[in-house]
Amino acid sequence: MGSAPRRAGHAGVGHSRGAAGRRRYRRRGDRPGGARPLCRHPATAPEVSTQPGFFHVVYTTRALRRFRSDPVPDEVLFQLFDAAIRAPSGQNAQDWRFIIVRDRRVKERMQEWALQAWQRYAERFPDIDSLPRSQRLSLRSVEHLARNFSDVPVVVIVCGLRGRHTTPGGSIFPAVQNMLLAARALGLGGSIFNLALGDRETLRQLLGIPESNEIFCALPLGYPSDRHGPVRRKPVKDVVFEERWGQRWAFAQAQPDEGWQARWLPAEEG
Ligand SMILES: Cc1cc2nc3c(=O)[nH]c(=O)nc-3n(C[C@H](O)[C@H](O)[C@H](O)COP(=O)(O)O)c2cc1C
Repeated sequence: MGSAPRRAGHAGVGHSRGAAGRRRYRRRGDRPGGARPLCRHPATAPEVSTQPGFFHVVYTTRALRRFRSDPVPDEVLFQLFDAAIRAPSGQNAQDWRFIIVRDRRVKERMQEWALQAWQRYAERFPDIDSLPRSQRLSLRSVEHLARNFSDVPVVVIVCGLRGRHTTPGGSIFPAVQNMLLAARALGLGGSIFNLALGDRETLRQLLGIPESNEIFCALPLGYPSDRHGPVRRKPVKDVVFEERWGQRWAFAQAQPDEGWQARWLPAEEG
């Protein structure tokens, strides 16, 4: 086994910036996790001083599909979009377009599609209650969202120019992930939920989306009633090769299967 995982604040990772670096952050007013408001309108900017650090956010951003009824304020939504649009896109095209949907009539139509898709999908799992806990909970949360989609506080529909890029979605999903990470950092939850896109053509007409644009995904967002993370994934050693396909990376082999999340999460979240 290699170096033992350590908690955030003690690990070398993320703490290598010297005094000069710290001074640079202070001058620019964008110190990570710092107490300063993010914009010139502190009265309306989301509170940033208590936010989790970058790696905490990454290790705890999981698909959350149950929401409280609290509305999502515009200044919080704005912060999510302002993070989304910092993402890269091919040729810097920035052809992403986002539609904020709060209209219950539209959400009800999407709920119909989600429910139909869920019922088809659920046929694969005749006895959900006998499945392993994590799979069971995940499927139950999908079902919950399909049945309650019209109650979701905000749904963001993400579009992009049809045929604009050689890697479809490659110039859209980086922005989507920025948005989900920003949502988690501000205490919101969400997920990509394309079960609700069963009839894209009708949705296009309902929302006036031009033919030139493709609908890439739907993001239901809100303050979650389930808890954030931690996110469980296959270990690095199983998915990263060194130099050649299939050749194990010795460094990863020596790391714990759960990765280094213990460095960044308080014990009760790990
Ligand atoms: C392109 C894409 C489409 C997805 N579509 C759905 C969907 O239709 N319904 C759903 O419940 N989750 C959907 N998800 C979310 C994944 O199921 C989820 O990210 C994955 O199961 C990991 O969940 P976790 O982060 O909670 O561990 C989608 C994710 C991606 C990237």
